[in-house]
Amino acid sequence: MLPYNIDHVAIAVQDLDQALDEFRRQYGVEPIRREVVDEQGVEEAMLAIGGSQVQLLAPLGPDTPVGRFLERSGEGIHHIALAVADIETALAHLANTGTRLIDETPRVGGGGHKIAFVHPEAFAGTLVELVEVAE
Ligand code: CO
Repeated sequence: MLPYNIDHVAIAVQDLDQALDEFRRQYGVEPIRREVVDEQGVEEAMLAIGGSQVQLLAPLGPDTPVGRFLERSGEGIHHIALAVADIETALAHLANTGTRLIDETPRVGGGGHKIAFVHPEAFAGTLVELVEVAE
């Protein structure tokens, strides 16, 4: 069940175009993928850096999880995503350790990967996403 990579660190932003322009200007990194994920109420962009990625998340509206996060906390780090080989096994392990989960079963996230969120109350107020990377 050990995570084998930090798949991405996600940063919530108000304006995705502006954030991508700024990231490009500062770090010279272009997005490898950009998509609307209706189910999560976000538009996301992935920026590959070495074996990991930065994910920029912009809300599709104020009444979405990321919209409410921005209202509450402003722009900044939203979650970290740990890559696991088998997400069902990882979720079963966490459930066995009494870890509070947001998703007890995986759903399909951006890029077609299986994902599940662990409640921020479980560890240091940090929202953790598990990702089983689709080949
Ligand atoms: Co993510």
